Amino acid sequence: MAAVIPELPPIVNNSFKVKAVTYHSYKTPLTTKEVEIPVTAGSIVKPTEVLLQIKATSINPIDCIFKGMSYGFLGPKDKIIGGDFSGIVVKAGAETKFKPGDKIFGDVLSVTRRGSSSEYIIFEPKVAQVCELIPEGMTFEQAASLPIVSGTAYQCLYSHRGSLEGSNVLVLGSGTSVGTYAVQFAKHYFKAAKVVATCSASSAEKSKKAGADVVVDYTKGKSVKVNQILEFVKEHGKFDIVVDAVRDEDLIPYFSHVLKPVSENGIFSQVEGSYTIDYSHVHLYQFVPSWKKFVSVVKYKLGLYDYFIDTVLLMNTKGYGDAVRTLWANRELSIPIDSVYDAYSDAQVALERVASGKAKGKVVLKF
Ligand SMILES: NC(=O)c1ccc[n+]([C@@H]2O[C@H](COP(=O)([O-])OP(=O)(O)OC[C@H]3O[C@@H](n4cnc5c(N)ncnc54)[C@H](OP(=O)(O)O)[C@@H]3O)[C@@H](O)[C@H]2O)c1
Repeated sequence: MAAVIPELPPIVNNSFKVKAVTYHSYKTPLTTKEVEIPVTAGSIVKPTEVLLQIKATSINPIDCIFKGMSYGFLGPKDKIIGGDFSGIVVKAGAETKFKPGDKIFGDVLSVTRRGSSSEYIIFEPKVAQVCELIPEGMTFEQAASLPIVSGTAYQCLYSHRGSLEGSNVLVLGSGTSVGTYAVQFAKHYFKAAKVVATCSASSAEKSKKAGADVVVDYTKGKSVKVNQILEFVKEHGKFDIVVDAVRDEDLIPYFSHVLKPVSENGIFSQVEGSYTIDYSHVHLYQFVPSWKKFVSVVKYKLGLYDYFIDTVLLMNTKGYGDAVRTLWANRELSIPIDSVYDAYSDAQVALERVASGKAKGKVVLKF
């Protein structure tokens, strides 16, 4: 159902003022400030643009990374945090597929230097990695939780070249939001036969609810984890795909025992990220690929090795919207939310919660 179209603040000299959650550099806390949004004279939006009233955004590790690597002398003085959003369309250009009153969710991180955490945003849906109508009955907070993490999880599974129906899927780090969605898409959308998931005991219930058949507690140590995975393979066969949401490369030396080779469509799909998911202090070297991965990729490229490590960065992936709508309609989409904060007063607390790597689901800002 379309929402009531919100009234715009007054437009003066082809811009209007909005409240936004901003930062200057890695040193400064998130602060609510008034910023100006420039508009197109006459029509407010270009034919390819949408003007959206933001209802909720969610914080991702990438927001911690962008802020953690931001210097005051680079970019705009007041940078707006966030990429993921949900909201109500106020104006829609003729070339977009949206109309005023539509409730939509998506991500603007890659398309604009302005983030999503402000009262209103103007952006181009066709260049966003995710931009979809919110399914009926889903709240703005739930919708804002989805874009980056569920889009990345979907893309990891989509990178498998064959059908995943009846397959064996291993998700490393199912306690993460990316991992939780990878389990759900694998089990309920791609119809995997068995999904094995690694997480701590405190995320085991969440992983089982998402659809994991077997849960392995990674906190018990590398050998316990590897042995449990090898035991599974003995009984059920090798994995068709491994989705790695936490840069867990302990299995690379065991590929020939646990993963189907590329010639049988096997793939190790690794989410791009750092080797730690604690983002309270961000350093560039944390993102350098490991030696183990480097050697493995070079051997594959030289044709000496039949196992491929794919590195996944969120992109606009075919079928994502359909996957979300299908799971939601079938009541098979669980959307774990760790916490909801007031955007204008508590955004810094929210950011620190994500940076700690301890959030049990998404951290949402409400507008
Ligand atoms: N390249 C991209 O486009 C892209 C997109 C999205 C995310 N990412 C990356 O993917 C990673 C996950 O992001 P996210 O937002 O899904 O994370 P998240 O939801 O913030 O993850 C928090 C969870 O991580 C788990 N965890 C913490 N340390 C762990 C470890 N050593 N091993 C396994 N699990 C651990 C914890 O669950 P337990 O209870 O199981 O410990 C915790 O609840 C991040 O590195 C992020 O930068 C990349």
